[in-house]
Amino acid sequence: MNHFEYGPQGLACEGVPLAKIAAEVGTPVYVYSRATLERHFVVFRDALAMSGVVDPLIAYAVKANSNVAVLKVLGDLGAGADTVSEGEVRRALAAGIPGERIVFSGVGKARREIAFALQAGVAEINVESEPELNLIAEVAAELGVRAKVAFRVNPDVAAGGHAKIATGKSENKFGVSFAEAARLYANASNNANLQPVGVACHIGSQITDLAPMRAAFTKMRGLVEQLLAEGLSVERLDLGGGLGVPYFNHPEPPSPAEFAAMVGEVTQGLPVTLAFEPGRVIAANAGVLVSEVIHVHERPEGRKFLVIDAAMNDLVRPAMYDAFHDIRPVIQRTGETVYDVVGPVCETGDTFTRDRALPPFAAGDLVAFMSAGAYGAAMASEYNTRPLVPEVLVDGDRYAVIRQRPTYDEMLARDLVPDWV
Ligand code: LLP
Repeated sequence: MNHFEYGPQGLACEGVPLAKIAAEVGTPVYVYSRATLERHFVVFRDALAMSGVVDPLIAYAVKANSNVAVLKVLGDLGAGADTVSEGEVRRALAAGIPGERIVFSGVGKARREIAFALQAGVAEINVESEPELNLIAEVAAELGVRAKVAFRVNPDVAAGGHAKIATGKSENKFGVSFAEAARLYANASNNANLQPVGVACHIGSQITDLAPMRAAFTKMRGLVEQLLAEGLSVERLDLGGGLGVPYFNHPEPPSPAEFAAMVGEVTQGLPVTLAFEPGRVIAANAGVLVSEVIHVHERPEGRKFLVIDAAMNDLVRPAMYDAFHDIRPVIQRTGETVYDVVGPVCETGDTFTRDRALPPFAAGDLVAFMSAGAYGAAMASEYNTRPLVPEVLVDGDRYAVIRQRPTYDEMLARDLVPDWV
């Protein structure tokens, strides 16, 4: 469920018409619903509780939507943060999420990022390889601390989704094998600068079938049992993120309740706490991208292009993953016309959709890309020197700009021309 519904003034986010935000902030603009963000987190948390999962660490995947205001909304509900860079750790800390609820993941953590995370006292650094483990031990020794590490295991399970976001096969760059995990875990337990606290996996994103997750989690349970049997201490099993969301073109993905029931079953009786790294399932349907139609361009052979003021630099998912986003008129209307919806960027790839039946539009009309709260603004760029798209958070009848659109002066001021040019 989300809080984007049609009212007397067209499509609204909670109590605020999107047309009002477009008029006051300008377009393109991302708009998020606080109530939806909160609801998604609470539904996920409560589903786990209902399935007998006691006191999990729900580390929201910051990469999905990393705005500090969004992180604060979730952090205030008890969410932790799954981070993949020093920048994301800084964002989580800035939102008031304490180090002990922050997980630091990612295949290529730099020395200074590891040092920063250790100083922030993160709950665990998810180790992706042996060289990385060695680097963490070295940095921890320099700082005179004991690094809490968890081993990210690649369970070699194929899990749906687009090839560019599947991570759980051994041919992907992520994680160590089960055999390596067991060996590295034992080694790390004997290192004064390392404290192995658990194991982790994450097999992909937008997963719409529980079977591969069940298979991976069952293998992870086996690994935890093996490590415990070897007399090693295991406190936490991190099951990653990846649960899919409805984008309204495919069958519904499993609900958080179904996911949690499966997790409860697979991990029953395991004497460790669980961690999760949900991103999309919290943020995707809590946000939309609002854009204005610049013009309708009909080519002589009949193809109709809806040229809008949002482009691939604002929402890259269709160009990058052929992703489907439902496109709704902000003001409801009847009738149907088939359009290619395109942005102003000088690339054919700047196409949001082809041959989509939509209501008829004219210049100046507003459209909303639904399910754009995750991997939308977070992946935006200034390609074509288009100002980075702003973000707005709605709370009931009020709203606030939570990231400003930069001015051209601010953008140009970042470029430095040396005096020898
Ligand atoms: N944990 C780890 C280690 C991850 O790599 C990811 C996502 C997550 C958690 C969160 O996954 P989620 O619950 O959001 O599925 N840009 C792509 C998605 C990339 C996902 C990368 N990793 C997209 O727009 O579809």
